Amino acid sequence: MRVITVTLNPALDKTASLERLRPGELNRLRDVVVDAGGKGINVSKMIAALGGESLATGFVGGGSGEEIIRSLSAIGIRHDFIRVAAATRTNLKVLDRGGGLTELNEPGPRIDSAEFRSLLEKLDALASSDALFVFSGSLPDGLGPQTYADMIRQVHQAGAKAFLDADGASFAQALVAKPDFIKPNRFELLQYFGLDSDDGTEDLLPFCRGLLDKGIGRIAVSMGDKGALFVSHEDAFLCPGLAVSARSSVGAGDSMVGAIAHAAVSGLSWRDTASLAMAASAGAVTTVGTKPPSRELVDGLLPRVRFTAL
Ligand SMILES: Nc1ncnc2c1ncn2[C@@H]1O[C@H](COP(=O)(O)OP(=O)(O)OP(=O)(O)O)[C@@H](O)[C@H]1O
Ligand SMILES: [Mg+2]
Repeated sequence: MRVITVTLNPALDKTASLERLRPGELNRLRDVVVDAGGKGINVSKMIAALGGESLATGFVGGGSGEEIIRSLSAIGIRHDFIRVAAATRTNLKVLDRGGGLTELNEPGPRIDSAEFRSLLEKLDALASSDALFVFSGSLPDGLGPQTYADMIRQVHQAGAKAFLDADGASFAQALVAKPDFIKPNRFELLQYFGLDSDDGTEDLLPFCRGLLDKGIGRIAVSMGDKGALFVSHEDAFLCPGLAVSARSSVGAGDSMVGAIAHAAVSGLSWRDTASLAMAASAGAVTTVGTKPPSRELVDGLLPRVRFTAL
């Protein structure tokens, strides 16, 4: 089985540093580094770090889009994106010496209906019973909240599997199309059920069981440093978060999704899938930004994963 990651609103991530950010003044940036970003692309990077392969698709445009393509080629990730008229966004992350991070994110291009149709045709050409699609991240302007639901239905018709990591209205609508796997974080899960994540809700298992009853295949609910809940029809358990020296938790969820997709195409059991997901996401927290952890780091963390049956 092969993995295809779909990033509808990728970004050229530009990271820079300075002494101290002074709003309203001229700030001169140092150490400017650019990198391909966006949640599906992060998933592809995690899979590559684990030694697996994936194809990255979605929309790119303009010079920034070409830079994303070049950057993916340079790190050996295969890609097949739809070129759109407007330029891909650039997201600027500025780190000051005190460790403060300021993020300036662009909205990204608006996608028109002809561009969307081109992507649907591409997905159709890639979809087969041998394909696993990973849909993750926010939707660009121009695409409605039914977008992921439509795509999931389309790839399911060709016998492919669909993983989903989204939130808000696009997540809620996509669930109707019964994705094979979802990875909400605690906040996103409770939001779907109309609950406030601060209301003290501890037991998330009944919510997960409710989703399985609706036809969702498997669920991982990530809970930051508290770990994650893994729920399938056969087995449900909690894995406490691994104690690691945290540097940046940005993209930890994407690493978890990447590890779970890699485990799925490698035929791992649900327990072994959870182990890989926990080790990969904990490893991701120890790296700077959204950089995935190395396979060695992940392998070193694997024996530390614990299970509490639910
Ligand atoms: N501080 C931490 N220490 C150890 N593990 C962590 C920590 N933060 C996150 N993790 C691991 O990463 C997983 C995913 O993290 P989290 O729940 O923050 O995902 P998320 O909110 O979807 O993040 P994002 O969407 O930014 O990638 C957790 O289930 C856990 O295994
Ligand atoms: Mg997330």
